[in-house]
Amino acid sequence: MSDTQLFAPTTLGPLSLRNHLVMAPMTRSRAVDANTPNDIMAEYYAQRAGAGLIVTEGTSPSPNGTGYPRIPGIWSPEQVEAWRKVTGAVHAAGGRIFVQLMHTGRVGHPLNLPAGGEVLAPSAVAADGEMYTDAKGMQPHPVPRPMTADEVRTAIEEHVQAACKAVAAGFDGVELHGANGYLLEQFLSPQTNQRTDAWGGSIEKRLTFVLEVTHAVAAAIGGEHVGIRLSPYGVNAGMKPYPEIEETYTTLVPRLVATGIQYVHLVDHSAMGAPEVPETLKRALRRAWPRTFILAGGFDRATAEAALDEGRANLIAFGRPFLANPDLVARLQRDLPLNAPDFGTFYTPGPKGYTDYPSAT
Ligand SMILES: Cc1cc2nc3c(=O)[nH]c(=O)nc-3n(C[C@H](O)[C@H](O)[C@H](O)COP(=O)(O)O)c2cc1C
Repeated sequence: MSDTQLFAPTTLGPLSLRNHLVMAPMTRSRAVDANTPNDIMAEYYAQRAGAGLIVTEGTSPSPNGTGYPRIPGIWSPEQVEAWRKVTGAVHAAGGRIFVQLMHTGRVGHPLNLPAGGEVLAPSAVAADGEMYTDAKGMQPHPVPRPMTADEVRTAIEEHVQAACKAVAAGFDGVELHGANGYLLEQFLSPQTNQRTDAWGGSIEKRLTFVLEVTHAVAAAIGGEHVGIRLSPYGVNAGMKPYPEIEETYTTLVPRLVATGIQYVHLVDHSAMGAPEVPETLKRALRRAWPRTFILAGGFDRATAEAALDEGRANLIAFGRPFLANPDLVARLQRDLPLNAPDFGTFYTPGPKGYTDYPSAT
């Protein structure tokens, strides 16, 4: 046993956390019935309640944002009721849990969307390549329909409603998914946002949607219960670098301060093949953020401890290690070997590769 800052209790705004480890949000596509959480999802999250904070898989605030098969939503009363079981199981095990609100925007397919859903985005720019559908396998990404001004306002309201429902479902807070190429990031990038109205054009205007969503959600449930995930230089879901990336994020993060939200969660997916996020940008964003700063991507115990010790972050998120090790915190603390993740079952329905990873402790 060893005790370092990583394993010591801490706080996230008003919440006490049992340690400095966050379980990173991971889509697992187990919500087989009507995009509604179920018992194995409650079991999976409760198994991982040793994390200081769990951030759930991306969860859609709207039928329009449910672009992948079997991802959960949080728009219907049935979904809220079902999430209550998940939050109850995590809390009973002593954990804390935020829901990640993920509107997929253009990264969807009509075959994946529930009834009434439509693939909407800032502009009519399709993502390159194909996406998986349960009905017909791989399919080309469709060209999304550009949102009307009313539809942009509806999408903001859907995030607010989803955040209120998250509170009703017992979540400790919500993380806005501003990363990895989904709707919020689609508004940030000039390649996916070619609008000429209030939400597109200059950097200022491209930030507007994200700032409006964040302000509105914070006003509805209290900024101390809200965080946002960001992925500058990310290439997931067809995103591409653009010249003003750094200016976009060094303008955005200071603007987010006034929304009162608690945390910024910065992703560096270079361990998964994406371009590295320059250390200078990470440090600039960290300096610009007065509250909790979370780093994610490729961490192990030693690099997490170094990032905390050097003040580069307040909390460290682990993705794949948590997926494959329900007792990750205890294993890291005792320097026990880790189970390897099985890529073949990341997104397949059922308990295999989901709730059956063994604990060592
Ligand atoms: C199976 C899988 C699903 C993921 N789904 C999401 C998601 O829904 N939302 C998100 O923000 N990131 C998602 N990610 C990214 C992770 O949150 C994390 O940033 C990434 O795995 C890098 O951290 P790691 O090196 O510790 O695994 C996913 C990653 C994996 C492996």
